[in-house]
Amino acid sequence: MTSVQAHTPALTSRLPKVGTTIFTIMSALAAETGAVNLGQGFPDFDCDPSLVNAVTAAMQVGHNQYPPMPGVPALRQAMADKMLALYGLRCDPATEVTVTAGATQAIFTALLAVVHPGDEVIVLEPCYDSYVPNIELAGGVAVRVPLTPGSFRPDFDRIAAAITPRTRALIINSPHNPSGMVWSEADMLRLQELLAPTDVLLISDEVYEHMVFDGQAHQSAARFPGLAARAFIVSSFGKTYHVTGWKVGTVVAPAPLTAEFRKVHQFNVFTVNTPVQHALAHHMANASSYHGLPAFYQRKRDLFRAGLGNTRFRLLPSEGTFFQCVDISDLAVPERDLSEGAFCQWLTREVGVAAIPLSAFYGNGFDQHTVRFCFAKRDDTLNEALRRLARL
Ligand SMILES: Cc1ncc(COP(=O)(O)O)c(C=O)c1O
Repeated sequence: MTSVQAHTPALTSRLPKVGTTIFTIMSALAAETGAVNLGQGFPDFDCDPSLVNAVTAAMQVGHNQYPPMPGVPALRQAMADKMLALYGLRCDPATEVTVTAGATQAIFTALLAVVHPGDEVIVLEPCYDSYVPNIELAGGVAVRVPLTPGSFRPDFDRIAAAITPRTRALIINSPHNPSGMVWSEADMLRLQELLAPTDVLLISDEVYEHMVFDGQAHQSAARFPGLAARAFIVSSFGKTYHVTGWKVGTVVAPAPLTAEFRKVHQFNVFTVNTPVQHALAHHMANASSYHGLPAFYQRKRDLFRAGLGNTRFRLLPSEGTFFQCVDISDLAVPERDLSEGAFCQWLTREVGVAAIPLSAFYGNGFDQHTVRFCFAKRDDTLNEALRRLARL
């Protein structure tokens, strides 16, 4: 018998700057300390039971094997119907709609499909934490353009200045995580005009499309022909149907873009959970399943904001998403002078409510004394958090 010295080869990390995400850290701290977790963005209430029943039914009738690579036809058709009904976009479910393992995989796959080594991809900071590592894994270079501090509105002069002959794509996100800012029709028209003379592709992350408040309409890239013609429009059933753990989403893109997208998709995940796709297709036939969402979340936003109105947190607008950002500068406690990250740790440990520092959404850790709460929670959870925050 020969004896070998077992050793694990050392790696040079492809993502040397990436560690444990702030969401994991804060959720773990919340669990450890018994804090109310308003950090990570997921509901603490269940989905419509009929959706769970529909998954069970799909499994019982034998929808348990690989579906077609781009997704179950009924779900792609339901998505195409929705794009037409809500945004006036006519898309072909056979060649322009693909079902993905959530929005995260959709965005990553789109980047892998279009970015060549050295290509630049513009992100607007603060932004969702997967974008930049995804760009880098695709061999691209992330070009970070800040949204206007305070308002988080797009700064088109800065976006225009960031576009170079190397720019392959721009990622936008409205309604916006973390700020809750919503792009207006004028913003989208301005973007359409800006991109018109370029070959820059658009990745439009619209996972909060059904959470837009105060009677505003979601300005999907699908509404703007000049944008839709160059866009991967990304949706997430996890957000829409309170099932973030199911990880199912879609990408709508013109046929030539979808063809490239699917080349990567088929050798990445290949297909996505079959019974869940059948259940979602069945559930989507009832449009009230998403038409009621703005009112549902607006009530929670108003409840949470009214409670925070009794504190010294300065409330930023929350026009959409299920996030409320607050400026901590006016708090009466000395911890208001801590960094956002240290403040969130203190808030979790000492006040018993977990939040997320906005600095986590910037490459350079930009600190503006602002933290994000998630109000996708049961009323009793929100009321308990408000009771604990009342002393601030
Ligand atoms: C802006 C944004 N994009 C994408 C995602 C991920 O969506 P999914 O769970 O469908 O991958 C999230 C989830 O928090 C998000 O906030």
